[in-house]
Amino acid sequence: MKFELPPLPYEKSALEPYISARTLEFHYEKHHRGYLSKLEKTIGHTPDAEKSLVQIIQESQGKIFNLAAQVWNHTFYWDCMKPNGGGEPRGDLAAAIKRDFGDYATFAQQFSAAANGEFGSGWGWLVVAKNGKLDVVNSSDAENPLQSDQKPILTVDVWEHAYYLDYQNERERYVSAFVDHLINWDFAERNFADARARR
Ligand code: FE2
Repeated sequence: MKFELPPLPYEKSALEPYISARTLEFHYEKHHRGYLSKLEKTIGHTPDAEKSLVQIIQESQGKIFNLAAQVWNHTFYWDCMKPNGGGEPRGDLAAAIKRDFGDYATFAQQFSAAANGEFGSGWGWLVVAKNGKLDVVNSSDAENPLQSDQKPILTVDVWEHAYYLDYQNERERYVSAFVDHLINWDFAERNFADARARR
């Protein structure tokens, strides 16, 4: 299988002023593309080359896992944002957030706390847990909820490369901008519908 780097779903300047074109240039062209090219070099013609990224994430460890998960995580992350995003979700996802967190504000506070609380490089996630309920979790480095049978609904990249050029060390300001101005709830609603259909 040839792994692919899908095009960014928007222009590199589309998320300004919250994420600069310069950040997206480095993040997509250097980091994301770099993970993909290293993955292809590392996998070569081994049996892993025939697997999907999700299969590799669920079945591999070490370097191949790290590279494959970072390719998948970043593709997912780009779709979690859009220009003029943020606000609140609608429909079934809104109802599930109310059921499992009490209200949207509590969800937003817990999601932000999970993202800000990841000690090193990693990711903040909204997932459907194994019990069918929504939950917020964080993961270190390349780790992904798919490894523990959780369904990713939304993610925020909290590696410093995601925000350092725009916010320096102020991760909380970046996470707050992500939540308030960038979340693509249409994408999250589709992920939630898919997760429910596959249960
Ligand atoms: Fe990243």
